[in-house]
Amino acid sequence: MTLYILFFTINKGGKFLMDNVFVDYDIDKGINLLEVLSALSHALDIKETFELYCAALLKDSGCSSNASRVYKAFDSDDLKTKFNVKLIDWTNIIESFKFAINNTKPGANLFYKISHLLSETKGDPKLMDELTTIRCNKGFEIAISLGFSYNVANAIKFLDEHWDGNGSPYKIKGEKIPLFSRILSICQTFEVFASNFGLQAAFDIINKRKAKWFDPELVDLFNSFKNDNSVWERYYNFLENYNIVDLGKDLIDIDKNLNISTKQIAETFALIIDTKTPFTYNHSKRVADYCVLISNELGFENNRVEFMYVVGLLHDIGKLGVSNKILEKPGKLDDNEFEMIKLHPKYSYEILKNIKSFGYLANVAGSHHERLDGKGYYQALKEHQINEDMRILAVCDVFDALRSERLIS
Ligand SMILES: [Fe+2]
Ligand SMILES: [Fe+2]
Repeated sequence: MTLYILFFTINKGGKFLMDNVFVDYDIDKGINLLEVLSALSHALDIKETFELYCAALLKDSGCSSNASRVYKAFDSDDLKTKFNVKLIDWTNIIESFKFAINNTKPGANLFYKISHLLSETKGDPKLMDELTTIRCNKGFEIAISLGFSYNVANAIKFLDEHWDGNGSPYKIKGEKIPLFSRILSICQTFEVFASNFGLQAAFDIINKRKAKWFDPELVDLFNSFKNDNSVWERYYNFLENYNIVDLGKDLIDIDKNLNISTKQIAETFALIIDTKTPFTYNHSKRVADYCVLISNELGFENNRVEFMYVVGLLHDIGKLGVSNKILEKPGKLDDNEFEMIKLHPKYSYEILKNIKSFGYLANVAGSHHERLDGKGYYQALKEHQINEDMRILAVCDVFDALRSERLIS
């Protein structure tokens, strides 16, 4: 949803972006420089659109890296806590305090909550800076490792900075914050409020935070299309029908410099998956390496070996949708928690099947907890439905779990 708001801002804000591009007219050179410059400027504009689009897609890629810290700091479901923080002004001490009390182990008494928070933060109220530092820096690293430019990486690194300098973690202010970060910051807040409380609430919040959180010119830009009904019809239509893969396909061809292999992308995503909990550190990478060992031993051809490597890297991508409260729970899981765990191969399948050439890979990844006796999950497949690739992946996955004495693989 942020993407729609983002695209619209770019369309309406073309001039705003162009003001940041150096344009020099020279009419004395005998060629139609106006035409050339306008073509070049158009290319620049598209290039910037592409980069902004990529930054929007990747803006939360560092999120898994602080999930464990959020779970421990609040002793609560990290996914819920992370959602709730989007709805408050955490720069306001009273709002922050209420948030901390309400989100620390819901249901516990006040004494427990306060003593837990004090012991986790050592009395230092800079928890937000700690969490954003982990997330923003990881997001920056991921963008660079995927081959994106510093424009994209910095857009993510400075995403939580505020116009007045009270953001997090670097406290830079005004135009020192990269333009892309300023655009993404307002778009993501707008989207959270629009999709949860409606458009009026979204406009109210960005105007309330104008010149505090957000660049005032960007807020004015949003306000300029508030009464354009055609925009909002398209917005609701978009919410119902959007497909993130289709949305990007026109832009993906633009940047020919992004020459990165599926293997490299999968390696980066394995890093994102594996940093979600300390228990899963390097799990996906090891599973992928075991898959290669077995595939080579069985004499598979190179493309099949590479396939097994990539599916090993991505098999647990669905774990990103499971709370750390469950993934890191010491001791036995209750029935409800185990039901949640059983969903992660299904999530892996659903995420991966969106990639056209990954149809079969999604099937294999989604089957990594199936068993020959039919007692696996999430589909309870029978022996004849579990092929050789699925069996190899399942063995490598369990082997790594046993080797590292974890119950959840
Ligand atoms: Fe696994
Ligand atoms: Fe798994």
